[in-house]
Amino acid sequence: MDLCTVDHPLVAHKLTTLRDERTDSPTFRRLTEELVTLLAYEATREIRVTPHQVTTPVGPAVGVRLAPPRPLVVPILRAGLGMLEGMTRLMPTAEVGFVGMVRNEETLEPSTYAERLPDDLSGRQCYVLDPMLATGGTLAAAVRFLVDRGADHITCICLLAAPEGIAKLQRLLDDLEVPCTLVTAAVDERLNERGYIVPGLGDAGDRLYGVA
Ligand code: URA
Repeated sequence: MDLCTVDHPLVAHKLTTLRDERTDSPTFRRLTEELVTLLAYEATREIRVTPHQVTTPVGPAVGVRLAPPRPLVVPILRAGLGMLEGMTRLMPTAEVGFVGMVRNEETLEPSTYAERLPDDLSGRQCYVLDPMLATGGTLAAAVRFLVDRGADHITCICLLAAPEGIAKLQRLLDDLEVPCTLVTAAVDERLNERGYIVPGLGDAGDRLYGVA
């Protein structure tokens, strides 16, 4: 797995405000979207394009456009939904699939409660959105879903990652032998005993949407 930690002052600035416990929910949502758009710029570096000719007011010009099939963006519900707008702003023609997963706060194991994905993902470039790569259970399960449907190129976009989650994802990908890139704004120190990233930013879903 390729790990890309985006090193940019704007990314660091927005992430610092997200971490701040005083940041309110509307600001947290807006900054999440902005941060994802910046991460998406790096995450789509390998997106497939095809040559495309246009005519400018001055004459012909050869450029590119996104190659079919359309890329698939998969936010992991609930918190990944807060990242969707930031991603589709950059890639409005992408298709969107959904995976709903919840973490059991005692066992820290994920279970799937919803799934809406195309049946056949062969040849599709997939972008999975999950703000916090903590134990890695949720993201690993989502990646397995996509690979089982034929995805052969996966990019995971996370606001923050913990070393434990990166290691878990790496172990899965070693078994699956599918190329995967993880793009994140920072790799934090560790997980605490409740599976939260330290120093992290707390519960991303709660901070985006309130506690419901
Ligand atoms: N999920 C979160 O929202 N935050 C963490 O720190 C870990 C998992």
